[in-house]
Amino acid sequence: MENAVAPYSKFKVGAAILTADGKIITGANVESASYGLTCCAERVALFKALTDGHRNFEAIAITAPLENGPMPCGACRQLLAEYAWDIDVWVFDSRNPEKIRKFKVSDLLPEPFKEF
Ligand code: THU
Repeated sequence: MENAVAPYSKFKVGAAILTADGKIITGANVESASYGLTCCAERVALFKALTDGHRNFEAIAITAPLENGPMPCGACRQLLAEYAWDIDVWVFDSRNPEKIRKFKVSDLLPEPFKEF
């Protein structure tokens, strides 16, 4: 979260993906002056993990200083559905890390578009 590049929103989000072989790969949001190009922390972490060769994941943790924590956006839910369908999604307020909310990707994005 501290490594986020968020000069526009000032809202720093951190994500960490746990791989099936026990590695933790982190990401943070990176914003652009062309706002729509911004990439969320979840996707940065997922893309880092995928491009490091990981394909099997256990969980993703997502945090920011926000009441109840930051819920992943629709774009991130789509990517998680495609590449990490069975994982647990842990969301928490970075100011209150002992209160974690846990979700399944299937609850966050039921009936996703996955193949054609
Ligand atoms: N953001 C994330 O990185 N993950 C979320 O789950 C919610 C939103 C980022 C995108 C943008 O840089 C900033 O938070 C404000 O929307």
